Amino acid sequence: MLAMQPLDIPIEEKIIYLARLNAAQVSEEERSTLSFNGRKYHRYMDCFYTYNELSEMDKDEVELLSSLRIEKDSEVIDYDYTKAVISYLLSISVEASNESTIIDFGCGNGILAEVLKEGKFNVKSLIGLDLASFALKTAEKAYNKNLPDSVTKTRFFYKNNKLEELDNTVDTIISSFVMHFPVFESQLREFFRVLKPNGKFVYNDYIHHKQPAHYKKILQMLKVIGFTCKETTFSLKSSYSNKVGSHRIVECLKPE
Ligand SMILES: C[S@@+](CC[C@H](N)C(=O)[O-])C[C@H]1O[C@@H](n2cnc3c(N)ncnc32)[C@H](O)[C@@H]1O
Repeated sequence: MLAMQPLDIPIEEKIIYLARLNAAQVSEEERSTLSFNGRKYHRYMDCFYTYNELSEMDKDEVELLSSLRIEKDSEVIDYDYTKAVISYLLSISVEASNESTIIDFGCGNGILAEVLKEGKFNVKSLIGLDLASFALKTAEKAYNKNLPDSVTKTRFFYKNNKLEELDNTVDTIISSFVMHFPVFESQLREFFRVLKPNGKFVYNDYIHHKQPAHYKKILQMLKVIGFTCKETTFSLKSSYSNKVGSHRIVECLKPE
């Protein structure tokens, strides 16, 4: 276990960022947990350590983590790996032949647009949703740059927000690397409402084994709302960390 001194804390006490350079000086096992002020921190994306489990974070913590992640960019984000997961989610949910309206839930830096740009899909409209304002600004730029011929927008979306004008208009909702954070039933109900019949909400959860109760709770909520859910596994090796990630993939269909 790593033991941090107060002076080592570069950001603030809830989320600690440990540069890859420092991290490289200690063994994998040693840096899998970290202690600070007598409290054990949880490791996230190799370089972050969080005071709370991801599924227990409040909005400010999620927003801070989201912004730091985007700021640190390729220092912490494995682009090839993320894009491969997103491609997989698209391949099981978007009809290549149709003009699609897609929601990107927890859009982060807007990386989904980079995958869509590769041109296998005909995107009529893309709506990025996030609770973090820095993510929304960054995603908007990525959408404009990568999908100039589609109608794109980003908007703030959290616990009590509605997606009024989208009723029954959305073909697919994709959510990559998001559902391990707190997600509210009200948000999932909005997804059910705005999807067209036969539309799909698909997501990955790569830390389901660390937060099994959270994973099950979300799945149960989706079923109660009316989705038909199918769970599969998708494994992928990261050339960045050399580790194989085993993702739970959840496909939720809004029945006709
Ligand atoms: C790890 S990032 C993933 C970004 C992007 N989807 C990707 O694959 O790179 C998670 C994003 O989801 C957002 N997020 C997490 N929980 C959310 C919630 N309940 N409502 C809205 N946004 C949320 C965070 O602010 C963050 O920008």
